[in-house]
Amino acid sequence: MRRVALPLLSALTLSACASSELADDRATMAAEAQARSEILADRFQKELLGALTTAMAAEGPQGAVGVCSSIAPALAAQLSEESGASVRRTALRTRNPAAQADATERRVMASWVAAPLDDNGRPKRWTAREGGEYRYMRAIPTMPMCLACHGENIAPEVTAAIRAHYPEDQATGFAPGQLRGAFSIRWDDAALSRAIRNGDAAR
Ligand code: HEC
Repeated sequence: MRRVALPLLSALTLSACASSELADDRATMAAEAQARSEILADRFQKELLGALTTAMAAEGPQGAVGVCSSIAPALAAQLSEESGASVRRTALRTRNPAAQADATERRVMASWVAAPLDDNGRPKRWTAREGGEYRYMRAIPTMPMCLACHGENIAPEVTAAIRAHYPEDQATGFAPGQLRGAFSIRWDDAALSRAIRNGDAAR
């Protein structure tokens, strides 16, 4: 799929932008954005879950709060820098105020609250081209291991550790299976074209 991106792209730049070519190119770019976003969300999920599991085992949830608060933003920054996309997590009720959703993210997550998983039991996905960007979102459901820090009965010392970092925390009271938030990835045209030109380096 990514092999055909280059010729289509050059056809677009060199031609008079016939509308069918533009449509073809948009479809190819959209597929590229989606495939690359899938990989970025997979990596974000896997690496964060790994770090969180290790920290929970070593330090318990109270100590792991500090790990999560430093690792999660660092991972988002690293994946953004490597890919050229904007990679982050967001939520309807946030812990980190910087994760607050924009109007699109809010609308998409609102549509997932009743059922974060699709018919195959996979977190729901959403893609669109909007505001000159290719956008991708993937639902993040609450798992049992999340409850120590996002559930209904959080230990007082964990609450204290969370409050110390996040005085405006709203991300508690969740039950397993509920929508906790979403990965949100955005590509502008230049970043996506660059990633395609660089081949697999960004993957
Ligand atoms: C050890 C405590 C802890 C555990 C366990 C934990 N989280 Fe978090 N979570 C945090 C902290 C701290 C933040 C804020 C991180 C930051 O600043 O980006 C956070 C932020 C988030 C965010 C970003 C949006 C927001 O509200 O700021 C999502 C989404 C999220 N967590 C999902 C999960 C999921 C899903 C699990 C279970 C797989 C989980 N968390 C387990 C502590 C935890």
